[in-house]
Amino acid sequence: MQLVIRNANLPDGRQGVDIAIADGRIVAVDKNLAVHGASEIDARDNLVTPPFVDAHFHMDATLSYGLPRVNQSGTLLEGIAVWGELKPDLTQEAIVERALRYCDWAVGRGLLAIRSHVDICDDRLLAAEALLEVKKQVAPYLDLQLVAFPQDGLLRSASAFTNLKRAIAMGVDVVGGIPHFERTMAEGAESVRLLCEYAAEQGLRVDMHCDESDDPMSRHIETLAFHSHRLGMQGRVTGSHLTSMHSMDNYYVSKLLPLIREAGVAAIANPLINITLQGRHDTYPKRRGMTRVPELMAAGVDVAFGQDCAMDPWYSLGSGDMLEVAHMGLHVAQMTGQQGMQACFRSVTETPARILGLEHYGVEVGCHGDLVILDAANPVEAIRLRAARLKVIRRGVVISESPAAHAHLSLPGRPETVNFRLG
Ligand code: FE2
Repeated sequence: MQLVIRNANLPDGRQGVDIAIADGRIVAVDKNLAVHGASEIDARDNLVTPPFVDAHFHMDATLSYGLPRVNQSGTLLEGIAVWGELKPDLTQEAIVERALRYCDWAVGRGLLAIRSHVDICDDRLLAAEALLEVKKQVAPYLDLQLVAFPQDGLLRSASAFTNLKRAIAMGVDVVGGIPHFERTMAEGAESVRLLCEYAAEQGLRVDMHCDESDDPMSRHIETLAFHSHRLGMQGRVTGSHLTSMHSMDNYYVSKLLPLIREAGVAAIANPLINITLQGRHDTYPKRRGMTRVPELMAAGVDVAFGQDCAMDPWYSLGSGDMLEVAHMGLHVAQMTGQQGMQACFRSVTETPARILGLEHYGVEVGCHGDLVILDAANPVEAIRLRAARLKVIRRGVVISESPAAHAHLSLPGRPETVNFRLG
């Protein structure tokens, strides 16, 4: 036996359980496990969760904030322009270095699986090569899944489809797209068809930036659901952002939601980014822009929250903290009921794990010994406090530790230490 974690609260509500790990796998989950000879960690009735998973990120651009200049308007389109200015000066070494640095942050935050889009519109495929190298380097401690992303448009950029296929041949995992950025709605729809057919042929997953727009008529999600259903790709296709759904007509959405469900298409909202980039043409009231998270969930669609950006041309903040992402998602979606808050925690853990197709994820016998001990009693408290990741464990080995958050008070008649928890 390698490790036993005692007195764990689990995300599903089980309390005071012990978790035994041998050879990197969970071999027992039960109360009062009789185990001898293993090292032990007392979780002290803290929440012990499988690692956080980020289903939507851009690792090729991360930590490049201010290069070559700051996005002054803060808009999506100026962000794409700034990225276009930076691209010719990118080097593989710089991308690798920044990405590794971000992965260090991720591990410290208990984020051990990331799906990152990688721009393949540069004919050198520099970023794809760099992130494939990063994927190899971080594999012992972080699962990195890469999406071939035609940032400048599959049909709008002359070599994009060829480059996308080259990137897949190099080892990039997932087929990406950006239909709302093509020249016309018709070309957007055509790009969805081409990409889905290619992915189906290759047996690959699909994750498209889809309708990242305030235009209520941007309806590529309907086309994505249609082709996912037609090609039998249920469970392997994801629509990222889907912000136009925020602005769509309610009657149309009442037809669209069951179509998405029927097609087995998952949805990813990126609350930190959607709330800052959308509604930019509005005066007041300003639309939030995030997709219809609780309604999608109620229709039976898998919905994850993604970080999307961290210190890049589109977003000047971010630190790989999926509890911050869930916290923002919960607020923007007004999911303040107990069920809603629990669902927000699942949106940064088990739901994105399912979307990525991660195997052996969870706190069950047979799962990887990948766990995070949080300075919180339960998922809701974890989100409320953006709780410290006391210990991050990969394959039964502690790979990161953080101190519990507390303050020392100097107040007459009050305790000397306050830890922000109710229990
Ligand atoms: Fe994105």
